[in-house]
Amino acid sequence: MLAGRKIIVCVSGSIAAYKSAFLVRLLMKEGAEVKVVMTSAASKFITPLTFFHLTGKPVFDDLWAGEWTEHVHLGRWADLLVIAPATANTLANMCSGACNNALAAVYLSANCPVLVAPAMDADMFQHQTVTRNISALKAEGISVINGNEGAHASGLTGPGRMAEPEEILGWIQAHFSKGPLSGKKVLISAGPTREAIDPVRFISNHSSGKMGLELAREARNLGAEVTLVLGPVNLPAPTGVKTIPVKSALEMFTACIAEYPTTHIAIMAAAVADYSPAHPSTEKIKKKTTDLNLELTKTQDILLTMGQNKAKNQFLAGFALETENGLENARGKLSKKNLDLIVLNSLQNQGAGFGYDTNQVTLIDKNGGESALPLLSKTETAREIFLKIIHDLEL
Ligand code: CTP
Repeated sequence: MLAGRKIIVCVSGSIAAYKSAFLVRLLMKEGAEVKVVMTSAASKFITPLTFFHLTGKPVFDDLWAGEWTEHVHLGRWADLLVIAPATANTLANMCSGACNNALAAVYLSANCPVLVAPAMDADMFQHQTVTRNISALKAEGISVINGNEGAHASGLTGPGRMAEPEEILGWIQAHFSKGPLSGKKVLISAGPTREAIDPVRFISNHSSGKMGLELAREARNLGAEVTLVLGPVNLPAPTGVKTIPVKSALEMFTACIAEYPTTHIAIMAAAVADYSPAHPSTEKIKKKTTDLNLELTKTQDILLTMGQNKAKNQFLAGFALETENGLENARGKLSKKNLDLIVLNSLQNQGAGFGYDTNQVTLIDKNGGESALPLLSKTETAREIFLKIIHDLEL
């Protein structure tokens, strides 16, 4: 997707500058043409030589060296400008239009979209001036890649750490993806749900959320606008995707049903609890000498509700997790829930199911078409599922 894309990575002076070397490597691996622009403060953290060797191209770090209009040529050359890390000073320059270094000159000369990954210590990041500058840049249409919370070089813990190179790559890929799903809204549910018994205990299942996360990533890569309703998982959500974190089946139901009317393609990959404690205790349940009986009530079936309310232009897919009579049960769910496609996940297949990076599924469509896929990575499985959907929708 990035092959031949002309990307300028602008590096300003932060300890996160070392991560830019990894970003440049990732971009080069994806086939992008990369040039690097640096401020003199950046070269105190990482040398221009590093980027020269990574890109095979001279680094632009001095407005006055070489041809004096180089910044203009660079600005016009780029398909995308990625400013990572962007320090408080660089953000301020961008807002004020100050042109006091090579990076600022290239930024002002660029006609292309701009992505910014801020990086600074926690207190600086939360300063009202920085917050105001970030809001102003967003209002100008610049995409700001949210960083992460965590430990800073100062010893402080808090927001302001630059997004990881892989996350920034995700944003860049999303920016360029004008794939077959561009203009389509895709809704995905993923992960398990947790049904509270009391404030410290819950009922849940082994779902890792991997399959749903891969579906969200693939939909994003194919150009869709993706909403991911995500139960509690230990994996990061893909960037460039609107993620709605939820815990219980009820929260997942509410979030999915609210998003559904504007959705073109919905894939419910979550392992939703079918039953929830009828009377969750507000206090921790104390141990008694007798047994404890839990009364469970049925949760609402999100997929079934969607199927009952499916509009003509909507495509609805679900998963069927079966331990026996897989095909028969999956076909039953396909028709009962009014689906266009069901993905049968059999726990009997080796290397498939909870926690694995691989999966072996059978795709069953509403016209009776069935195709059993081999054991694939979950990334490849997600790709196959979308290939099938794109084929069925004639996109
Ligand atoms: N599903 C849902 N809401 C629920 C239960 C399930 O949206 N409350 C969705 C799942 O996300 C999946 C599909 O329904 O896409 C089938 O889930 P599965 O657990 O295999 O089947 P159930 O319908 O719950 O039936 P059973 O547990 O009896 O197999």
